[in-house]
Amino acid sequence: MIMEIHFGVDYYPEHWPRERWETDAKLMQEMGVQVVRMAEFSWFKMEPREGEFHFEWLEEAIALLDKHGIKTILGTPTAAPPAWIIEKNPEIQPIDTQGRVRHFGGRHHDCQSNPTYRAHIKRFVTHMSQRFANNPGVIGWQIDNELGNAHGDLCMCDSCKARFQQWLEKKYGDIETLNDAWGTAFWSQGYNTFSQISTPLITAVGENPSAMLDWKCFCSDLIVDFAKWQADIIRENCPNHFITHNYMCFDDKVNYYDLGELLDFVSNDIYPAGYWQEQPHQPDSDIAACHDVVRSYKKKPFWIMEQQAGISGWGTMARALDPGQMSVWAMQSVAHGADAVVFFRWRACAMGTEQYWHGILGHSGRPGRNYEEAKKLIHTFAPHMDEFEGAMPKPEVAIVHSFRQNYAFQIQPNHPDLRYVEHLKKYYKAFYDKKIPVDFVQDSDDLSQYKLVIAPLQYLMTPELEQHYIDYVEAGGHLVLDMRAGVKDANNICMTDRELPGRLGDLCGIEIPEYDCLFSKECQVLFGKREYPVSKWADIITLTDAKMIAEYTTSFYKQTPAVTENVYGQGKAWYVGTQPGAELMDELVEYFTQESDVERLGTAQDGVELMTRESDGQVWLFVINHTNEEKVYHLNDTYRLLEGEREEYLKPYEVQLFVKNKYGR
Ligand code: GAL
Ligand code: ZN
Repeated sequence: MIMEIHFGVDYYPEHWPRERWETDAKLMQEMGVQVVRMAEFSWFKMEPREGEFHFEWLEEAIALLDKHGIKTILGTPTAAPPAWIIEKNPEIQPIDTQGRVRHFGGRHHDCQSNPTYRAHIKRFVTHMSQRFANNPGVIGWQIDNELGNAHGDLCMCDSCKARFQQWLEKKYGDIETLNDAWGTAFWSQGYNTFSQISTPLITAVGENPSAMLDWKCFCSDLIVDFAKWQADIIRENCPNHFITHNYMCFDDKVNYYDLGELLDFVSNDIYPAGYWQEQPHQPDSDIAACHDVVRSYKKKPFWIMEQQAGISGWGTMARALDPGQMSVWAMQSVAHGADAVVFFRWRACAMGTEQYWHGILGHSGRPGRNYEEAKKLIHTFAPHMDEFEGAMPKPEVAIVHSFRQNYAFQIQPNHPDLRYVEHLKKYYKAFYDKKIPVDFVQDSDDLSQYKLVIAPLQYLMTPELEQHYIDYVEAGGHLVLDMRAGVKDANNICMTDRELPGRLGDLCGIEIPEYDCLFSKECQVLFGKREYPVSKWADIITLTDAKMIAEYTTSFYKQTPAVTENVYGQGKAWYVGTQPGAELMDELVEYFTQESDVERLGTAQDGVELMTRESDGQVWLFVINHTNEEKVYHLNDTYRLLEGEREEYLKPYEVQLFVKNKYGR
């Protein structure tokens, strides 16, 4: 679906007098805006009383924008049901783990299984989609807004309980099977019937890890079903419109791979300098990792539906962006696979919770620094973006990413500070620093196109997954496995049939009869001639076939292997029994990439990012300076400079764009 739409803004005309709309549309057009997203929180404006629909204001705004060459994406407003619905049906408000109602007054005050709420949605979304199906200004839909946001431990209501019971019955068939799968022999947790099973309200103490894993998977399925409820209606009424949803990077309430199946393409919201962060902004490599995982959710280019455009803030605020920083972040999105970037928001709002969430325009509405910067960015890069729309990065390295593994570590982190996504990002950063592009993949994906696969924290294991990894290596793949591999079965119950890491031990040529949680404990590893700190965990490894490539130098297991290497079939399997610190990670990744023949795009000073997208034999290369200093870099291949002044040299916050023909034609 080639749309030749590349830049836009999130627009809330209903927050401003109508007399202002024309000025907004003109300013947007001059800036180069081609699309707006509107209405995702405007239910009350569109239906102030049950059955009384007011879409005229929205139609007027759409038409006005269209006159200025700007198309519209409509959001369904289902993340904020109006007060009249709550008054009539208070039971649609969600219940938290303590059994308390989360009340009206903010947003996300909805239960996603509640049939009464579903009926309201059906009525409203049917109306809205029919009304706008043939509107020439409208091109697509965003379902709800950031599904999973603020639904962290929700919802425990009776409706969700009944649905959870049905979900379990469908999965297990009979209660004995569930009792086995959940290990309910422990602490007398056996059930006679599915109807005895509750949503996980706060307990006196402790919880069942198997039950919790099912609950998290159920919640994800429920959200997908909630989205499908709307997607089906829109598909039927608006066959010519696309459907997307705004994701939140690595957020985990809903399995984004599953949700992606409903959508034409995935969108993402990205706020590198969120006001909740202690640091001025997220590390550049973390932002890059977000884009890469978002691209991987549907293995397609994506949109940024909310790209930070100014100071973020609710009650308190984050730092102002340096001149050039907004552009750099926007182009970083593009470099990793965004075909369009929509800035949040057009103008800082004067009222409500988000008064301090700044936009392209400030409160005064007068174009200033951000406006000029965005305009320059769009005029420079939009013309090129038609050419590489649809192009994808083609990494040689993949990192396996799994919602289920993440859930299992949330339930039992093993070490109090072990975080699944943070652990993946440690590997990611080492590749990022070496200018080596990375894909994220699901563990069920075909891995054969990758020279090197990193599969961290393979905690929940099945015979199929073991075989999948064995096949990949046997056929010549290079695989890195690490600590806590093969510990549990799919039900989150410890495996007992052999030593860790189960059958992966044959692949890695090791056994792990013992381990040590490095809680408040220092630990060192010798690799080459140097010692490096490691943390979180120490697998105590016995070699069966493998060779040791790094050893512990601390504790009773000093001089035993911390990292091992095993030739298996045509390939190689490494096992890393600990969490390497940044320096050791860097050295290990260097070694793994050399052994797997993985190429780098070039070399550069710190703060410079290199990334490519490819299609039809053309390769576009982005060089991004994330700092306010001058930088130098070197490319490992010859490219033609399309934007930028001087090759191998960058001004502060400069973005350069290159192209080459892959076959030298
Ligand atoms: C996003 C959300 C927007 C707005 C923005 C700033 O999470 O989708 O509606 O709230 O953050 O807080
Ligand atoms: Zn509920």
